[in-house]
Amino acid sequence: MSSSDFEVLDIEDRVPYDENQSEREKIEIKLLLEGVHQLYGYDFRNYAVPSLRRRIWHHVHSEQLKTISGLQEKIFHDRGCFERFVQNLSIPVTEMFRDPHLFLAFRQKVVPLLRTYPYIRIWHAGCSTGEEVYSMAILLYEEGLYDKARIYATDMNDRSLQMAKEGIVGIQKMKQYTKNYLEAGGTRSFSEYYTAKYNSVIFQPFLRKNIIFAEHNLATDRSFNEFNVIFCRNVMIYFDEKLRNRVHALFHESLSHFGVLVLGAKESIHFTDFAGSYETLDREEKIYRKIK
Ligand SMILES: C[S@@+](CC[C@H](N)C(=O)[O-])C[C@H]1O[C@@H](n2cnc3c(N)ncnc32)[C@H](O)[C@@H]1O
Repeated sequence: MSSSDFEVLDIEDRVPYDENQSEREKIEIKLLLEGVHQLYGYDFRNYAVPSLRRRIWHHVHSEQLKTISGLQEKIFHDRGCFERFVQNLSIPVTEMFRDPHLFLAFRQKVVPLLRTYPYIRIWHAGCSTGEEVYSMAILLYEEGLYDKARIYATDMNDRSLQMAKEGIVGIQKMKQYTKNYLEAGGTRSFSEYYTAKYNSVIFQPFLRKNIIFAEHNLATDRSFNEFNVIFCRNVMIYFDEKLRNRVHALFHESLSHFGVLVLGAKESIHFTDFAGSYETLDREEKIYRKIK
């Protein structure tokens, strides 16, 4: 995960100082998450406590409330407040060719494997607003593999997915994205892939033609296909060990034999229940291959 995932939040100072999280606060959080699960079906009960706690307090303050119990009451009776809560917990920070060296390693180490397949299915789980998915579409297009590929892009956040479908991003990001693209081994001019419109750019429609966007929640939903590659980057870092293992079971079930799993820079297959089921293709870039 890039450090910026947390920078967007800048609320550390607003979380009540409490070295040992108080019993009362623990109970309030537990009741809130239990209620959200029962009422709305979203399960945040196994998200990692430190970031969850910061996010909850952030939401308490942004709703002009004073306590987590107050937030619970509002969320239970006001769907809009619940929807803002989901946005707040979603952390949709992403970028094109994020960690460019990972995409370079993918070109060098995974693309040769993909060339041997008659068709390719790739799942981007937790795709946020789609930048990672369009990066993959560009990479496959340049490698001559896009026509035989289907990319499944999922997230629990429907607002992010809507933005992903539109394929529109702010023009001010293009300088960084072009730099990332080149560092990731891009072989053409990055500007070929989008059209500028006022302060935004829209990706060329041909990049979208083999992408299927769908809502999918890693905490509650099941496997829905078999994949040659699964990308799940900077998502499980927000989960506790139990939920991480649930998601790894889902990925293990969903990957074909010799399927490739790509995790985020701060994530790893080690210390999960599935460590023994994968071999490492690139230790630094967190690229693994299912062997059993
Ligand atoms: C920090 S973004 C990562 C985006 C992209 N993978 C990347 O690395 O640039 C985390 C994404 O995970 C999604 N997410 C969090 N919990 C999820 C869950 N239980 N199921 C599916 N997506 C989830 C969030 O909505 C958010 O879009």
